[in-house]
Amino acid sequence: MPNRTRMIAGNWKMNKTYSEGVTLAQELSNALKEAAVSGVDVVVCPPLVDLKGVAGVIDFDKAPFALGAQNVYWEESGAFTGETAPGMLTDVGCTYCIIGHSERRGYFGETDEDINKKSKALIAHKIVPISCCGESLETREAGKQVEFVVNQIKADCAGLDITSGDQLVIAYEPIWAIGTGKTATPEDAQEVCGAIRKTLVEIFGEAIASQIRVLYGGSAKPGNVLGFLEKEDVDGALVGGASLTADGFSQMIQKAAE
Ligand code: PGA
Repeated sequence: MPNRTRMIAGNWKMNKTYSEGVTLAQELSNALKEAAVSGVDVVVCPPLVDLKGVAGVIDFDKAPFALGAQNVYWEESGAFTGETAPGMLTDVGCTYCIIGHSERRGYFGETDEDINKKSKALIAHKIVPISCCGESLETREAGKQVEFVVNQIKADCAGLDITSGDQLVIAYEPIWAIGTGKTATPEDAQEVCGAIRKTLVEIFGEAIASQIRVLYGGSAKPGNVLGFLEKEDVDGALVGGASLTADGFSQMIQKAAE
């Protein structure tokens, strides 16, 4: 059984102003230190304008979490109004970046091809992509969730140049379970996460794929997270709503440390 360190990543989405973000990061740091949690990798992904402030808390307070962005563009620099280059994220202290979230695919028209380019650009800058995949309710009701997600993984991860499993994180987030309060069952998550792992083995080989963390996301909260984490191919959670309070999020991290 491969020994993958569990990961709990918080996706703040479009929540928390700069000042609110700094306060939340400070509260989270205090809560995690007080609970003396260890053995779990924690990542916080605030909105772009909060990144520098949260990086400050991490630096000055030696906060026990890493910094991630929620999106990136693949070009190095230039006339791409409103976009952010990977080097800009590195410079403010990001070591992770969420890509391909279903909200970006759905509202902003991101394709698997875009996500693949973003992943390549991030890896070239030593930022770990948290690459999201997941099916719609319609696809799930047609029983095609495994086939759909496997195809996403093949397209999103094609040609990625990684030499170890800690250079990539996958997040399986069934769209129908995001922000709806409707969670998949741990068995639903394992079915797809197991298929994701097999696909990663085909792409990267056993040695690398067995070390890639596969997270579950979609209405994960302190009360249900452990059920997911106990599944063989679920190595953590990507958390939206429940990452917006230090108390709730630190409770989830403590569960993951159990
Ligand atoms: P949720 O969001 O936990 O609020 O369902 C998860 C996500 O979209 O990353």
